[in-house]
Amino acid sequence: MTTATAPTEKKVNPNAPSEETVLEVQHYTDRLFRFRLTRPQSFRFRSGEFIMIGLPKENGKPLLRAYSVASPNWDDTLEFYSIKVPDGPLTSRLQKIQTGDKVLLGKKPVGTLVHDALTPGKRLYCFSTGTGFAPFASVIRDPETYEKFDEVIVTHTCREVAELQYSTQIVEAFLGDPDIGELGQGKLKLYQTTTREDFPTMGRATDLITSGKLFEDLGVPKINAETDRAMICGSIDFTKDMKDLLEAHGLKEGANSEPADFVIERAFVG
Ligand code: A2P
Repeated sequence: MTTATAPTEKKVNPNAPSEETVLEVQHYTDRLFRFRLTRPQSFRFRSGEFIMIGLPKENGKPLLRAYSVASPNWDDTLEFYSIKVPDGPLTSRLQKIQTGDKVLLGKKPVGTLVHDALTPGKRLYCFSTGTGFAPFASVIRDPETYEKFDEVIVTHTCREVAELQYSTQIVEAFLGDPDIGELGQGKLKLYQTTTREDFPTMGRATDLITSGKLFEDLGVPKINAETDRAMICGSIDFTKDMKDLLEAHGLKEGANSEPADFVIERAFVG
């Protein structure tokens, strides 16, 4: 038996990343920057998900890494928030991108920091450290978040004050936006802390929860499984400690297949 194939036809891999154009780059510190890419019309994602991002081949295979989409799903363009690692295989090159350059974008967004993985609640906590704030930049600008929760509290902990710039910028721009800001006004609270440089609120989120200071500062009752839901994204140690802490407060970990009280993004590498 023979199968007829056109010999000149080139096979197209439907899962191959697309080449997107860099629209904007902003550097915050020598370790942090954000960039914006064109968004293919066919690219759909749920706020909070991540996607593979990379650079076209120099010599050899293209290198791709998981990045949370930082822009909300209604945005025409895609934003990413990244660390710069001087000898990092991808970020050492990615940090040099400029407007007009090409970046590879995967086709299949996935992730657990999504509403579908949480059962209904009154208050949503988004706990983050460092670039772990990125998925929450998406979640807190999604109207669905405010349909599902009465109050949204985002915590962002970094070593130094300059590393808090991105979360400040995102939340201020969102709340001041004449079209969508109203969604978050009176509902969204950003709770920033530093651990190694003076700032009005200092300390690890875990310690501030244990001492009760976080709740006093925010004027909310202690975390409880009846009303509170949570998403966690940050360093491996932070994620582990936050998980233990939430479980100690009676919350159960959920997943896309089995929604529950809190979710963790394990694909995150800060
Ligand atoms: P600390 O300075 O006390 O280590 P990193 O830059 O190492 O990824 O850390 C980002 C932020 O997360 C830092 O402020 C760091 O605090 C904090 N952090 C690191 N590990 C934990 C943890 N296990 N629990 C809570 N916060 C943590």
